[in-house]
Amino acid sequence: MRRWRGLRRLNSVVEIITVDSPKAGVLRRKARAVGRITPQIQQLIDAMIEVMHEANGVGLAAPQVGASKRVIVAEVSERLHVLIDPKILKREGEEIGTEGCLSIPGIIADVPRAARVKVKAKNRKGKGITLDADGLLARVLQHEVDHLDGVLFLDRVVDKSTIREVAASAEVEAAVPTA
Ligand code: NI
Repeated sequence: MRRWRGLRRLNSVVEIITVDSPKAGVLRRKARAVGRITPQIQQLIDAMIEVMHEANGVGLAAPQVGASKRVIVAEVSERLHVLIDPKILKREGEEIGTEGCLSIPGIIADVPRAARVKVKAKNRKGKGITLDADGLLARVLQHEVDHLDGVLFLDRVVDKSTIREVAASAEVEAAVPTA
């Protein structure tokens, strides 16, 4: 069973903050750069990966678990990405696709995004990396970097008639990337 009100209850110690939570303000704040990667940041990353897996998400940003830090995780095509202080260097093309957000349960909509992005970040060892992404990974990375700037996917919807309610189900989660 899933409960959708306030905080989304999960088995892990960390909870996903949703837009109707008392702590929702964190979702609208610009998150702070991490800089030095401390053991606390490693713990945060581990917790985020766990929560993303439990929620069947394809991505998660630290503000969604209440940490106003520039950390995102994404898992697409069974490949896990941990990006610290990510920056989108280049955006190319445009694609419209359906998205959902773990912080806005039960709502999906069509969102235009760049088709391809080049992202610079640090990995969890502090090593500088660049990532060229297209397709779903490009979409997820843009969705997550937006979270770090206090932007939610509904802010990016152009055709408001595509905003629709869906029942939480494994089918929806499989069909619509939720991040
Ligand atoms: Ni989201």
